[in-house]
Amino acid sequence: MEYKEFLKATLPHLGLRWRRFKGKSIRKRIIGRMQELDLQSWTQYGSHLLENEKEQHYLTSILTVTISRFWRNAQLFEDLEKIWLPRVLGRLSAGEPLQIWSSGCASGEEPYSLLILWQESFANSGHDLCLLASDVDMRCLQRALRGRYPASSFREMPKHIREKYCTNEGGTFCVPGGFPKQIVWFEHNLISAPPLTGNHIIFCRNLAYTYFTDSLQEKITARFHRALLPGGLLIVGRKDHLPQGSEDLFRSLEHPVYEKISNDA
Ligand SMILES: C[S@@+](CC[C@H](N)C(=O)[O-])C[C@H]1O[C@@H](n2cnc3c(N)ncnc32)[C@H](O)[C@@H]1O
Repeated sequence: MEYKEFLKATLPHLGLRWRRFKGKSIRKRIIGRMQELDLQSWTQYGSHLLENEKEQHYLTSILTVTISRFWRNAQLFEDLEKIWLPRVLGRLSAGEPLQIWSSGCASGEEPYSLLILWQESFANSGHDLCLLASDVDMRCLQRALRGRYPASSFREMPKHIREKYCTNEGGTFCVPGGFPKQIVWFEHNLISAPPLTGNHIIFCRNLAYTYFTDSLQEKITARFHRALLPGGLLIVGRKDHLPQGSEDLFRSLEHPVYEKISNDA
């Protein structure tokens, strides 16, 4: 069996689009793993993988990228401030908290960006923010709790905002000490576990609609629909799109923002 056949035969079982992983560097990573396990061929590793759930999780974790950054897609953050958050807040009843879920939050860059945006522009909105952040990878969540990042993580964030909120400790930038406690962090696998409900906004950027197979994307889109409150927003990555057939569940407002279509509308 060759590498391409291995990908085709195994990755769809893991819910992953095999074509994304054809590159040489990923091939090298998998060969490294086979050597660790003392397996000599793609066929042997393929069988081991299909019989072993732990290995499936391990392979998924070495395949999917965990890189993120603050203010990723800076235009979206501008639009969140000017359009999307005012729109959602305008629909809340007095004193109702706003619930936002950052799924696949990597090392916390996205939820911390949202927290900073909130403090900058919405702290006096009369609503509390309930910010949830999850990732399948515990190491990412541990890094998020440490809240320490290299300068490169801030390249899209306006410098004056970084300087206002983060302290520079010899080239490593730290979020304020109280920030981690203002976010509810949890380990969550989007493929196998149902989402938390009651969200006004769900972020799922550069994950499900980047890596997962069409059929898994359809399943997850339906789950996001149920996990959002009426009028809730689903926000995906700049290059992500919802799968065909999602038109009954979400209407595209302005890419990458989708609005839930309520069943009773
Ligand atoms: C490329 S990062 C995207 C981070 C952030 N959403 C962004 O757009 O910058 C993808 C993240 O998804 C996480 N991930 C991969 N598979 C996952 C799964 N099945 N469930 C939840 N998170 C997953 C990875 O650990 C990684 O942190």
